[in-house]
This record gives sequence, C-alpha cells and structure tokens, in this order.
Amino acid sequence: MDHMSRIETLIGSMTLAEKLGQLTMTAAGYAVTGPVIAGDSTDAIKAGTIGNLLNLFDAGHVQQLQRLAIEESRLGIPLLIGFDVIHGHRTLFPVPLGEAALFDPEAWGMTARESSHEAAADGIAMAFAPMLDVARDPRWGRSAEGPGEDPWLGAQIARAKVRGIQGGDLSAPGALAAVAKHFCAYGAVMAGRDYASVDISERSVLEIHVPPFAAALAAGVAAVMPAFTDLAGVPLTAHVGLLRGLLREQLGFDGVIVSDYNAIAELMRHGVAATLADAAALALKAGVDIDMMSNAYRLGLPAALERGSVTMTQIDAAVRRVLALKQQLGLFEQPYRRGAAAESAETRAGRRRLARSIGARAIVMLTNRNAVLPLAGSLRRLAVIGPLADAAAEMGGPWSLAGDPATHVSVLAGLRAALPGADILHASGLAIRADELPAMQPTMDICDAADAIVLCLGEAADMSGEAACRAHLGLPGQQRAYAQGVLDRARALGKPVVAILFSGRPLVVPWLIEQADAVLAAWFLGSEAGNAIADVLCGRVSPSGRTPMSWPRAVGQIPVFFGQRPSGRPADGNDHYTSRYLDIPNAPLFAFGHGLTYGRFALSNLQVTPLVASEGDTIEVRVDIANVGARAGQETVFLFTHDPIASVARPLLELKGFGKIELRPGERGTVTLCLAVSELRFLGPDLQPLIEPGEIEILVGPCAERSQLLVQPIRLRVTAAQR
Ligand code: BGC
Repeated sequence: MDHMSRIETLIGSMTLAEKLGQLTMTAAGYAVTGPVIAGDSTDAIKAGTIGNLLNLFDAGHVQQLQRLAIEESRLGIPLLIGFDVIHGHRTLFPVPLGEAALFDPEAWGMTARESSHEAAADGIAMAFAPMLDVARDPRWGRSAEGPGEDPWLGAQIARAKVRGIQGGDLSAPGALAAVAKHFCAYGAVMAGRDYASVDISERSVLEIHVPPFAAALAAGVAAVMPAFTDLAGVPLTAHVGLLRGLLREQLGFDGVIVSDYNAIAELMRHGVAATLADAAALALKAGVDIDMMSNAYRLGLPAALERGSVTMTQIDAAVRRVLALKQQLGLFEQPYRRGAAAESAETRAGRRRLARSIGARAIVMLTNRNAVLPLAGSLRRLAVIGPLADAAAEMGGPWSLAGDPATHVSVLAGLRAALPGADILHASGLAIRADELPAMQPTMDICDAADAIVLCLGEAADMSGEAACRAHLGLPGQQRAYAQGVLDRARALGKPVVAILFSGRPLVVPWLIEQADAVLAAWFLGSEAGNAIADVLCGRVSPSGRTPMSWPRAVGQIPVFFGQRPSGRPADGNDHYTSRYLDIPNAPLFAFGHGLTYGRFALSNLQVTPLVASEGDTIEVRVDIANVGARAGQETVFLFTHDPIASVARPLLELKGFGKIELRPGERGTVTLCLAVSELRFLGPDLQPLIEPGEIEILVGPCAERSQLLVQPIRLRVTAAQR
C-alpha cells in the first residue's frame, strides 16, 4: 500500500478516541523514577488512546511499550517516543551555549548526529531539540540551552543541528525527528524570568526571534514546539497568526507542531480559556497537532467537537501529520529498528573522544595575563580548589537525563590524569551554595604549598536551564568571599591563580576578572569536562572558543548585546545628555565573539570586492592574519555589516559570517569570507523585505567591539524594481 493511502485508510477506520490518541503524548515516567508500565499508560496504549510517549529511554523498555501498541492495539499504529536530547544523551557534550562558542557548523552537526545515534540506540525516535531561542538576558536560565544573542548565528546552528539530528533520511536507524523549539521569542521573557510574559515589537519578533526557526524549516525540520509564553497577550500555544499564519502558510511548514509540557492546559492559567475543552479547541485551531502532557485533546476535544468549536476535518489534518511523521521515521515498517543493535565499545569510545575535543574547543579564555597559561611544564605542585574542582556530577550540565554522573570527569580527575608527575593538592573549600564561609585554613595550607592555583568556581548545573533564572549573576553562596581569600593569599605569595568558571550563562564577576591571572569560561562541558579543561590548561589544546553572548559588567546593563540600534544621542563622556550610565560604561566587559587563544593575532589588509555591488552579486571579503604570538593557535574572525542610513534604523553591527585559520607562531595567512548581497535585505517600514541603495560598511575583526574591527565601506546599487 502506498504511504498516503495507508494513512487515509487508517484515518478512515479510526474512532474519535483513537484519533485523539495519535494527538496525545504522555510521560512514561522512566527518566524520573524508572519505567512505569502500568495503569493508565499500558491500558491506554492497548486501547490506542495514547499514541506518543516522552521521558522513556532504554531500548528494552521502549520496545516493551512499542510491542503493546503494535501487537495489542486494534490498529497496530506504532508509538512515537520523544526525549530531550539537548546536549547529548548518555554521552554529554557541552551545553548548547558553550557549543555555540565553537563557531563551527561541522562540529555542531557532528555532536547532533552522535547524540541522535546514541539516543536512537536507546529506542528514541524524536529529539526535543534544537532549542533556538535567541537570548539577550543572561538572567534567563534557558540561555544555556540555546544559541546565544545573535539571530544569524542561531540560524547557522539551526541548520547544522537539524541536519545532524535528522540526517538525510528520517527512516535511517540512527536518525531522529528534530523539534525546533520554542517558537518563538521565549528568550524575551520579561525581566529574564522563565514563563513570564513577552511583549516586544513585531519587528523584533521577525528580525531577531524568527530567523533561527526559518532556517530550521528550510533545513527540513520535522517538528516545531511553541513556547510556553504569551506574546502580547496571545499564548504561542494558541497563536493563530504565528503558527497557522507565519509557520504554516507563509513559511510552508507542513510538519508536526507538538505543544510544550502541559502548555495546552496552561491556556486556562494564561487567562484565555475557561475550560480544558476551550483550551484544546484554541490549540488545535492554531495548528498544534500533539498535546504533550495536558490530556486536553483526549478529554476536551470531544466536547469541543460536539459544540462545533472544532471540526473533524481539523482533527483529521492533525492526525494525518502525526501519521505522516511516523511513516517518515520508518516506524510502520520497522517499529523496533531503533534500539535493535547495541552500540560497539569503539563507537562509545569515539563519542567520548569527540566530547573531549568539542569540550576543549568550547572553552572561552576570557583573560590570560602575562601568558600564565598554559601551565608551565616544570610545575611540580598544583592546587586544584573550589566547590567545582571535584564535582563530576555537575559537569554534565542541566539536561543530562540519560547521562550517568559516575562517568563524568571532574577537573581534579582530568588534571591528575594529565599531570601524572605533579603533586595535585585539593580542597573543595565550600559547597557551591554554602551560606557560610567555612574555615579557610585547609585551603590556605594548600595554596602555600602549591606553585600555581586552579580555582574552580561557579553555578551548580541545575542553576541554569528551565526554571533556573537568577536576579544576581555573581557567584552563588559564599564563593566570592572564599575566592577573595585565595586571591589575597596568592598575591601575597606571588603565585598565579587560574579561575575556571562553570555556568550556563555569562556571569557578572568583574572583581574576579580583574584579580585572577587567567579566567576560563568553561560553561558545562559534559561527560569529558575535566579532561577537556586539562587539555587546555596543559597546552595540549590552544583555547579557541568565542563567547556567543556578551558578558555584562553589571546586571543593570542587561540586556547588553552587540546588535543595538544607534541612539540620537550616542554616548559621549563629555556630554551629559547622551545615552549612557553615570556609573559604568555602556560596553559589556567582554563583547560577543571575545575569546583569547595561546597565539596572538594581528589583522590587516581588509580587501572587499566589488566595491560597488548590485543585487545578485556575492561580495568577497579577504583579510590577512598573522600570528605574532609565541604559540600556535586558531583565530576566528567575524564579518559584520552596518547600514548607516536606511529607511529604518539598522543595528550598529549585524553578523553575517565568520571564518577560522590555524597559524603557527610567525605564520601569516588570509581568511576569505563571502557575503551575498541578498543578505543585506532587511524589513522595511511595512515589515516587508527590502534592499536599499547606498553605503554599507563591511567590518571584520576578532569580536563585536567596533574599535577592534577593520572597516571598508562599499556602495550598493539597486534598481527601482529590486526595491
Ligand atoms: C520544556 C521543553 C521540553 C519538554 C519535554 C518542557 O518543560 O520546556 O523544552 O522539551 O519539557 O521534556
């Protein structure tokens, strides 16, 4: 039977309860408590009234439930099993924000592919990833899960991740259906507080928050998840304009829309639905196909149908999309294929090696005074201290449902393995969230005895991710007092201090940046964290990560990001009535793209051709780079544009590209980047795409700080027809 007729025949023979079963996803409970194969789920799967599950992994358990659906339900429709494969599955990679720091589409794709293979071997068919919410407010804990502050970067990550997760063929045994989430503008929650209201301009929605999703759609993403939040009073789960209008009609998306966890029922709390039936009707009419965890479709849609607030045609359309996805995933033909074969030890070892190298490359070296890093080979005694020094379980990061903390590598373990000849002295000093400062003496004794001090500070893994927002972005508990004690002692003893910061977001720690000899942002690097950090500290890997989010000087600067629009009164220290703070500079402490390496690079000779360009042209941008430092390293350069005069004020910098080059000391090379003139389109006053003639600045440099960029203006020639 061909695919379409199988689906139509099934729909023709389904009862309403069976149809609603295909639109329902419930938790199997495994991730939290072990497999729950009992009561309602089991009976409902057999009855065909639950067609999709989440929070279940392990091939044996998955197949046990799949067998119920295939063998014991009337129509034998396979279950779709989804899971949060956010930054790895059993093997954990760096949190997405950390991985964004690689600026390497191939690497982004590789970890997505490896995670999918690993999850597929556990019987999973759908990954609730990639998370594509642009985040400009580090108070928001979910900044850790996404691409950082820039929409263009988000779009590159979206493409790489969707391709990596899905591969070329969704029915392949290692491929999963990707879910682009959370559509959209979730990152703009008010005051950086999770689940809060979002109220931003339509222009911001379209220019900043939609592009990563549009890129995911263009890459063929199988599913989209609407955000929990409302946008100017309309919850995304019920947003006809954005789901039906923009996603389905304008962008042509015909895949599955799966609600977020309990989001349909929450329409009542949002204050737009009085009953579960109303909530279900609103979501279905907006285009949501699968109800995750609300039971609103199963319980509410029969009444809504009877009342005439939804139609059977709408229900059938949603069922059709769900069955089509199951079809594409090969679930009808081979429901047990995912998880049929255990992975080999070599495959698993290869994945750990990948986690280590990606982890090392995600590290952003914020400072390195007097080239204190890499640690000297002659070092005999090293102090490895602080609450995150021996914290293997924390290394996994916020989404590590299937990861085994016992297999994560701590900094202490990584350094012990890397420096077998050295004496590694350790004291954790205090707990991450300790309210009181314990006695400092044990730490001081260790500092006294050591040649150098590695001070591991930061957040616990569960302080970022969902429902993990913070109003203060300093170090939790008494860590500042502890670190200050260490810094003071080290200064008195003349010993270098290398601080390693663990966090799912930029932290606000200017005092530490000022006093430590070197500071590394290590995010949460996953299973191989300690080895990856040791690789960088010992100089086996030259750090190359670049921050995908600006690091504020103070919480009061937030949101601080490079894509700001110009002011009519730009900051001027000599003019009171200009756009600035009285107490701190406007610029962040570290700009987007900042990150040092063990090399030192000088950029020169920016060449742009042609200097007069027309629609359809591709502009070639070349820049010479010399490693003027004493060690090898990989430099990343960014390509920005700025449209100084336009019918709508454009941001001061817009990211349009990046490139990398590996250079030995004294070596020079050239990076070539391409920019299609069509990339210079923007949304005009009526929010329609437009390209305008005139000057465009092309800017190239190591980060989004204007003073560090080389600039070459070009002219755009555009005919009236093209406008
Ligand atoms: C999160 C989603 C996640 C879902 C399923 C929700 O709470 O917002 O990102 O995919 O749970 O676990």
